Amino acid sequence: MDDLLFQPLTLPNGTVIKNRFFKSAMSETMGDRHQLPNRELIMLYNKWASEDIGVLVTGNVMIDSRYLGEPGNVALDSEKNLDVFKAWAQVGQKKGTPIWLQLNHPGKQMYRSIQEEPIAPSAIPISGSSASAFRIPREMTLVEIQETVTKFISAAQRAEEAGFSGVQLHAAHGYLINQFLSPADNHRKDTYGGSLDNRMRFLREIYQGIRRSVNPNFSIALKLNASDFKEEGFGFEDCQEVVKIMSDLGVDLIEISGGNYETPVFGSEYENGAGFLNYATALSKITNVPIVSTGGFRDKKQMEKAINDGVSMIGMARPFVLMPNLVTEIKQTKDFHLTTPRLTTGLSSLDKTLGPIIGVSYYEGQMKRLANGRPIKRRENAWPYLLTTVKLHGLAALRPRRQ
Ligand SMILES: Cc1cc2nc3c(=O)[nH]c(=O)nc-3n(C[C@H](O)[C@H](O)[C@H](O)COP(=O)(O)O)c2cc1C
Repeated sequence: MDDLLFQPLTLPNGTVIKNRFFKSAMSETMGDRHQLPNRELIMLYNKWASEDIGVLVTGNVMIDSRYLGEPGNVALDSEKNLDVFKAWAQVGQKKGTPIWLQLNHPGKQMYRSIQEEPIAPSAIPISGSSASAFRIPREMTLVEIQETVTKFISAAQRAEEAGFSGVQLHAAHGYLINQFLSPADNHRKDTYGGSLDNRMRFLREIYQGIRRSVNPNFSIALKLNASDFKEEGFGFEDCQEVVKIMSDLGVDLIEISGGNYETPVFGSEYENGAGFLNYATALSKITNVPIVSTGGFRDKKQMEKAINDGVSMIGMARPFVLMPNLVTEIKQTKDFHLTTPRLTTGLSSLDKTLGPIIGVSYYEGQMKRLANGRPIKRRENAWPYLLTTVKLHGLAALRPRRQ
């Protein structure tokens, strides 16, 4: 079984990936005040690029600097300062590992403190326990939809110009593309709403526009929810259709995840069992495009079984922070198992509501340590991470969220 994880994989566009380890996107929040990558961000990728990882996906980069998901986001919406993106791409590929820029627009998932008027397919507020952290969005006009499609395409062209080997479109976790796909968030009466074909139009226009304007060896990947796990939302049936259609259109790889700010399924229950693996395995049977399952992989046997069952790559995020040399460890250790720190405030009700934000803040802190060559702190006390979040983003940030 050992070899399964270390076999090369060829993508539809001919790119050869040396092994089955996929570093999933993690918002590093290392953008400077001009939303450009800072020195720490480049140092962090210098670290990951030194390791034996198959593909590196960056944290989400916003395609429109007016609409950031959170403070510290990087944005790529101008020709200016492409040099710093070039430096990032160059460092990421110093050992030949493909590095893909994840492109995103938050839509209505923008913190109240960031934008007066978020935009979304329809003026439907975010519900659930995190609702008060967000404003009611305004419905996008057709002109705004076209402008946003163009911004995604331009960002991908700039990513190619900067030397990245691909992009990943973030169509998961409740952000703008996911909002268009979801019947719960998209009540439009025009050609962008209604049937799945219409709800997919935004994604298709972005994807096809990028495909037409980049070189054939530039990879275009997708991150998609298996389900939003919310009534009337984007469910697994829709997901299967999107996978089939995007495969026919020639997408190079599809990463499967799930949830959004209303149903953040990102947490301890997924840490010991790969949460979306059953969905990802089923999807791998209906397409020839490589499917990546992400979320909860901590165990070598579980990873081998996933590949054996048809998934093409193992997506991991938090494990690559805790153990950047994870791939080497897995290669050398027969019964590899990673435990993630259980952060707690000591108050179970608080842990329940603030679990995701505590986790994000902890991992952001550890990415900063990695960037600066300092060892990871395995901690249980969640309070310092809560306080850091409040200091940086105000009390409104203390809401369940996922990226
Ligand atoms: C600090 C942090 C930031 C994240 N940022 C992003 C992001 O920018 N884009 C994205 O698609 N997923 C993001 N995620 C989700 C991860 O890519 C991944 O789907 C999730 O952590 C589950 O995988 P894991 O169990 O291996 O960590 C983030 C996760 C963490 C912990």
